[in-house]
Amino acid sequence: PKHVAIIMDGNGRWAKDRGLPRREGHRAGAESVREVVDACKELGVEYLTLYAFSSENWNRPEAEVKALMALLDRFLDERGKDLMRQDVKLEAIGQIERLPASTRKRLEKLKEKTANNKSLTLVLALSYGAREEIVAAARSLATDAAAGTIKPEDIDCTLFASRLSTAGIPDPDLLVRTSGELRVSNFLLWQISYSEIVIVKKFWPEFRQGDLFEAVAEYTRRHRRFGAL
Ligand code: FPP
Repeated sequence: PKHVAIIMDGNGRWAKDRGLPRREGHRAGAESVREVVDACKELGVEYLTLYAFSSENWNRPEAEVKALMALLDRFLDERGKDLMRQDVKLEAIGQIERLPASTRKRLEKLKEKTANNKSLTLVLALSYGAREEIVAAARSLATDAAAGTIKPEDIDCTLFASRLSTAGIPDPDLLVRTSGELRVSNFLLWQISYSEIVIVKKFWPEFRQGDLFEAVAEYTRRHRRFGAL
């Protein structure tokens, strides 16, 4: 697959099973992020999109939100060297303006630093919600139509997709969700129209390179027809 997207689920339950605070689950989950980046590099995957923080996650207790932001800060502070060495370009989708200013600054810095890297693009979905993204695209098209710069009949799938935060990124071929849940949870609703979905019955902190290789093998076994014969 050219583009793999992952819903990293089960950090909280992993921690609970071990009698640990939820933030320890997220911390262990950050280690799995390293594993999947390595695995994608090995497989020659070109885009990896990770659902790191959803719009709904803002409703979690303040302490947990803070812990997640601190983990993200740490990732952005510490992983720059690895991303450069691995030729990985960092991008972000979502309502980035809602993130704390200090996190935004780190994110911008690392995006800039890795901008010319080519072998893998790591897309972090941060404060991301697919409905919000689709509404923003509709609003931007409506604004242009009202101003007369486009006609309503100009709006087609290609123009619509160009107003999404994923403009320029191919749709995911494979969507992986961990912890066995069978839900899409407001992730890339437009973009996963034809994605193969693989559900893994492990909590995210237990996810290792081999688990991604297995998910990709399952993807390869499936016959992809895009609705045609
Ligand atoms: C879902 O588990 C996971 C999250 C809400 C956050 C994902 C974040 C990370 C893996 C760590 C940081 C990421 C980066 C890029 C540094 P959950 O808390 O919903 O688990 P539960 O369903 O068991 O409660």
